[in-house]
Amino acid sequence: MWHFKDYNYYYKVIFLGKLRSYINTNTVILIMRREQFMELTVLPGTNRCGEKEGFDQIVIRPGDTLSIVGPTGSGKSAFINDIEVLAQEDTVTGRSILMDGVEPPEEMVRDPAKKPIALISQNTRVIADLTVERFLALHIKARDTDTRRLIARTLALANEFTGEKIALPMRMTALSGGQARSLLIADAILISQTPILLLDEVENAGINKERVINCIRDYNKAVIFVTHDPYLSLITDRRIVMKNGAVAVMLEPGSRERSVITKVSGMDSFLWDLRERIRSGDLIQERESPLIKIGVHA
Ligand SMILES: Nc1ncnc2c1ncn2[C@@H]1O[C@H](COP(=O)(O)OP(=O)(O)O)[C@@H](O)[C@H]1O
Ligand SMILES: [Mg+2]
Repeated sequence: MWHFKDYNYYYKVIFLGKLRSYINTNTVILIMRREQFMELTVLPGTNRCGEKEGFDQIVIRPGDTLSIVGPTGSGKSAFINDIEVLAQEDTVTGRSILMDGVEPPEEMVRDPAKKPIALISQNTRVIADLTVERFLALHIKARDTDTRRLIARTLALANEFTGEKIALPMRMTALSGGQARSLLIADAILISQTPILLLDEVENAGINKERVINCIRDYNKAVIFVTHDPYLSLITDRRIVMKNGAVAVMLEPGSRERSVITKVSGMDSFLWDLRERIRSGDLIQERESPLIKIGVHA
């Protein structure tokens, strides 16, 4: 005979299993149940030549923001995949991950509903043939919360991240890449309440990065961005530079990049507005902005 609590837990697991089957796992999106953590530790592995990485450990705590930069093929995705699978020297890199200082419990590795990590990648596609409203409602139901209010809040948050507004009756499959990722990030923050978010090159899809990062900070999540975006790299607290499959260096710039950040922030919001205007069919003329003049005459 099941106790209510057991049933409830079982339901969540079944539901999340079902939800995952709606999603093309080949293109990696995982939505997971909240599990509090104090710190996640990455222990070094080896580079592509089998040489040990030059760091002792990288510790990630709630509220931390990191970016991972480096050329294509340098091992950025491999690094966050190690975190996502809670590697135990069983991936190509040989890294291992500790949760709160110890090897993660077997059930956390095995059971997606117990993993405190959401990975949203560039190729994330939701293949569930549901409306946005139904998708969110189903997901919330498994978590026994006030559905309507939470749907509205999640939608509003997603719409702060994307320039192309999402509406509840839209089909999930019809969302653009930027809309889907914005919705999934909002979902990970408000519904799944996932403590660790891994975002692999999601910036090129009309997502307001600054808003995302501020929001993630407000909710005290840890976030790791794999990114080629200079502004995003500058506004994270730590920057991991990858080379030949290994962590080459980890920078913690503190206030040293502050003056650059202010300038790049202006350029970035200018480009954001420009992108939105171009998408909506505006004709862009040089006299409108000193920044365009710089671009043209430099
Ligand atoms: N430390 C490593 N040892 C061996 N192979 C690695 C290592 N890091 C990454 N790779 C492999 O190199 C390839 C490129 O890595 P990837 O993480 O996709 O690069 P990026 O995301 O920076 O473009 C992948 O096939 C990956 O499995
Ligand atoms: Mg990659």
